[in-house]
Amino acid sequence: MGGGAQETPVADDYKNPALPLEERVESLLSQMTLEEKALQLSQGVLGQDYNVNNLVGGKAQDDPRIGSMICALEDPEKRNAYQKFIVEKSRLGIPMIFGYDVIHGYKTIFPVPLAQACSWNPELVRESCVVAAKESKASGIDWTFSPMIDIGRDPRWGRVVEGYGEDPYATGVFAAAAVKGYQGETIPYRIAACLKHFVGYGVSEGGRDYSYTDISRQALWETYLPPYEAGVQAGARTLMGAFNDICGVPASANPYTLKEVLRNKWGFTGFVVSDWSSVRQLMNQGYAANADDCVKKALEAGLDMEMVDGFYRRSIPSLVKSGDLDPKFVDDAVRNVLRVKFELGLFEHPYVEVKPAAERLLLPGYKALARQMAVESMVLLKNKDNLLPLSPDLKNIALVGPLAKDKDSLIGSWRGRGEARNVTDIEEGLRKVLPSSVNLHYAKGCGVNEGSDEELQEAVQAAEQSEVILLCLGETSTMNGENASRSTISLTSPQQKLFARLVELKKPIVLLLATGRPISLHTIEPRVSSILVTWHPGTEAGPAVADLLTGRENPSGRLAITFPRTEGQIPVYYNMRNRARPYQGKYQDISTEPMYWFGDGISYTTFEYGPLGLSARELTSSTPLTVNIDIKNTGSRAGKETVFLYIHDKVASVSQPMKRLIAFQKVELQAGESKTVSFTVDPARDLSFANSDGRRVLEPGEFEIIVKDKKETINLK
Ligand code: GLC
Repeated sequence: MGGGAQETPVADDYKNPALPLEERVESLLSQMTLEEKALQLSQGVLGQDYNVNNLVGGKAQDDPRIGSMICALEDPEKRNAYQKFIVEKSRLGIPMIFGYDVIHGYKTIFPVPLAQACSWNPELVRESCVVAAKESKASGIDWTFSPMIDIGRDPRWGRVVEGYGEDPYATGVFAAAAVKGYQGETIPYRIAACLKHFVGYGVSEGGRDYSYTDISRQALWETYLPPYEAGVQAGARTLMGAFNDICGVPASANPYTLKEVLRNKWGFTGFVVSDWSSVRQLMNQGYAANADDCVKKALEAGLDMEMVDGFYRRSIPSLVKSGDLDPKFVDDAVRNVLRVKFELGLFEHPYVEVKPAAERLLLPGYKALARQMAVESMVLLKNKDNLLPLSPDLKNIALVGPLAKDKDSLIGSWRGRGEARNVTDIEEGLRKVLPSSVNLHYAKGCGVNEGSDEELQEAVQAAEQSEVILLCLGETSTMNGENASRSTISLTSPQQKLFARLVELKKPIVLLLATGRPISLHTIEPRVSSILVTWHPGTEAGPAVADLLTGRENPSGRLAITFPRTEGQIPVYYNMRNRARPYQGKYQDISTEPMYWFGDGISYTTFEYGPLGLSARELTSSTPLTVNIDIKNTGSRAGKETVFLYIHDKVASVSQPMKRLIAFQKVELQAGESKTVSFTVDPARDLSFANSDGRRVLEPGEFEIIVKDKKETINLK
């Protein structure tokens, strides 16, 4: 163990918060030895993480000069004790930055991010991230590896659950909201956000995780980079590299994305951490020959910090001393890390205030917010004969299915330090709000992956006694997330068998879909009365479902990802380009239309859209266009409607999608109320498209302005 406190005297002006930040960085950097720099760029693991895909990494955690830890502790006292070891036992006393995967909450767990996107409520996303930041910081976490903003268009890929869906613009809006939520507090309460996985991870071939991605420069700029640009503009201080290989140059050592785009075009000044072992994995990808080669290629490309394998720690000193690595790459990386540590106030506040768990976790206000987010994220896709909300005259209701009481699944994958025991499940939620006159008959019916005749029979008996069947099917939390690719997006066989048996009873079925990815409903939709996608809604799962089923709340979620009919349609997403022969090229065996489109979802009330009002029909590039549309609640109860504004650039030098989202607004309307929803379109920002160099191109010609089924054409001169 090196770095004893008795070595070279230290000019500790870098500890003076009154000094300009860059001076503090330079003063500290100028005093660091090569070993200290290499360790500052290294990240170990503290505590045992639950993520089975991540075997605990190298032995760097025994050196007080190490720069970061993944902190899988929940004990701020232990975390402080480790920080004290770092600050007091190392020569320069550079505080550790503790990171953790706070993806949709730390202890109070919010719906999975894909569900949050379906709320179309960025302010709620920001507030949820504020809560996550407060619980995290109070528990010793300075940095979350979130938001994950990979565009998800292949539901076979398990990690679609972690992102905000298929649309680049929407994902950018939610990315910015999350960054502001995590980083918005004042020092020392803010935590650093981390945009991940940079970039293109969601295009993993065949939905197989960690795979090759063939992404053209045009696609990079048009689809996969925009959310990161939005996140960087929102002030994100870190990014995480990605596992995937981008056209033969892995994202973890890709000079184009890490340097040309991130630093030179966007002026990013924070730091980039690798993903778990992704520096070492350059050898698997056939891009590096050995550990030294991994380190040289990653560092020269702009990957600042290495997660868990200790490659940077071991190879940097010898590579620099042998002249194989220019020390400026090392210094640039250390500058980026130190800059963020100074910005977070870690030098002035290396320790967190220790409070009892009951005073920092699962506070009533936090759970209330989680419940609101769960209510707003659930999507009602079908409601034949207005079966929902459940009639107060019902006397017997069956609640059946393997997920209704599966707390560990309802909390979702990447649940941080969330615990199943804190989850209110769907049966518990319903029993809290249903009147005592209603008999709720619960039966599991089957497991997700296995079932018995007894379980099936119990479910049939519960259903036979009931007027309505609430059937909760979907996925367990281990069926999505990392390393959870599936060749099919159908329900598992035991669930299909249970469904088929209950359909025979010819009673109305409400399908509650508890899932982290789109599920094939091709054969299910025609045989159910209602479909409510609950997603994996987190700690307040039960109360949120009960609020919606009983009508205490009105569903307002809209899909942020298209539901294919079957995996055979993948990829299918709303902003596709037209076919050369739109009326041909269809599947011979099933409809070419997906089951549900991005933006789909219904309410317990109805909304009527008036005509589109445009401030002009002829535009120049400097003429903002105002788009107005009246929305009326024509039903009998209040409701929230998300109004989506799309454009279609009809003819361009790079063909454009049939429609592209450029804005959205969620409005609440009382029964009978009408509101004018107004958008301002800035042609340079909203009507331009990215070319393969990342330049915005605005070309004259006709554009369609689209809201719902309303379409008007404008002409840009
Ligand atoms: C994982 C994930 C990444 C996560 C990191 C630390 O493998 O890919 O999203 O932040 O390792 O757990």
